[in-house]
Amino acid sequence: MTQAIRIRQHGGPEQMELVDVEVGDPGPGEIRIRHHAIGLNFIDVYQRTGIYPLQMPTGLGMEGAGVVEAVGAGVTHLKAGDRAAYASHPPGAYTQARVMPAKCVCKLPDAIDFETGAAMMLKGLTAQYLLKRVLPQGGLQRGDHVLFHAIAGGVGLIAAQWAKHLGLQLIGTAGSDEKCELARSLGAAHVINYQREDFAARVKEITGGQGVKVVYDSVGKDTWEKSLECLRPFGLMATFGNASGPVPPFAPGILGNKGSLYVTRQTLFSHIATRESTQEMADDLFSVVASGMALGYRPVRW
Ligand SMILES: NC(=O)c1ccc[n+]([C@@H]2O[C@H](COP(=O)([O-])OP(=O)(O)OC[C@H]3O[C@@H](n4cnc5c(N)ncnc54)[C@H](OP(=O)(O)O)[C@@H]3O)[C@@H](O)[C@H]2O)c1
Repeated sequence: MTQAIRIRQHGGPEQMELVDVEVGDPGPGEIRIRHHAIGLNFIDVYQRTGIYPLQMPTGLGMEGAGVVEAVGAGVTHLKAGDRAAYASHPPGAYTQARVMPAKCVCKLPDAIDFETGAAMMLKGLTAQYLLKRVLPQGGLQRGDHVLFHAIAGGVGLIAAQWAKHLGLQLIGTAGSDEKCELARSLGAAHVINYQREDFAARVKEITGGQGVKVVYDSVGKDTWEKSLECLRPFGLMATFGNASGPVPPFAPGILGNKGSLYVTRQTLFSHIATRESTQEMADDLFSVVASGMALGYRPVRW
C-alpha cells in the first residue's frame, strides 16, 4: 500500500483526499517508480477544477522524479534501480509510488538531483519546445525580439534563461516589480509589469515600432487581444495556456487586418508523443540544466 491524493469530483483544493492505494506490478510498456520528489504545475489546477475535465475518481499531478522499482515487458530504456524523471499523462504524480507508461520517463543524469528533476521536466520541456520548435516564418535568429508572458512563473523563468542562452532579446511580462526583477536577474533582456504598464505600447517602444516575431502567451484571456498588437506582419501568436481564463472565440479576419498573422495553440503532449521525441527534448534540457541553468522552484518538504 502507498499514500496518494485522489479527487472524486472537480472543484477546489478541498476535493483532494489522502488515501491508501495498492500499487501493482507494471504491465507491458509500463514501469513502477518510487518518487523522491514531484513537481506542481498549473495544469494540475485546470484538471482539478475541470477546465480540462477528467474521468472520476482520479489522481493528480503530471511530473515527478524517483527510482524505478520494476519494468514491464517491452521496456528497454529503463531498468530497476535507475534514477528517472518524467512529465507524463495520466495524472497521478501526487503519490509516493505509481505504475505508469514508460514512454515519457527518462533516465535522470547523475548531475541532476531529484528535486531539480521533478521541477524541470514539464516546465523545462515546455520551454524547450516553445523556443526550439514553435517558431515564426524563417525561424528565430540571435538578437531577435520575442515576447513571453508570465515570465516569472515556472515555465517563464526557465524560458528567460534559455532565450538568453540562444541569444534572443526576450521581453518578459510579470505582475509585480519583484517578479520583473527576478526575471531580469535570470536573463530577460527587458521586463514589463503588465499590471501597471501598457505592454503593447512598451513592446513597440523596445522594438523601435517594429513589434516582435513571436508572442508566447500562457495567460490567455487577459493578454490575448493586446498580444496581437505586439506582433510584426506575419508574426506568430503561440498561445499555450489559460492562467487568466481561456481565449475567447475570435474572427480570423482580425489576423489579416493586423498583418497576416499566424496563430497556433500548442501543448507539450503533442511534442512528447513518442519515446524518441521525448528523449531528444529531454537530452537538450538535461544539458542546459547540468551546465548551470537555475530553476525557479521552491522545494517543499513534508
Ligand atoms: N500548453 C503547454 O504545453 C503548457 C505546458 C506547461 C505549462 N503551460 C501553461 O503555462 C502557464 C505557466 O505554467 P506554470 O506551471 O509555469 O505556472 P505558474 O508558475 O503558476 O505561473 C503562472 C503565471 O501566470 C500568471 N497569471 C496571469 N494571470 C493569472 C491569473 N488570473 N491567475 C493565476 N496566474 C496568473 C502569474 O504571473 P503574474 O503574477 O506575473 O501575472 C503566474 O506566475 C500556465 O498557463 C500553464 O497552463 C502550458
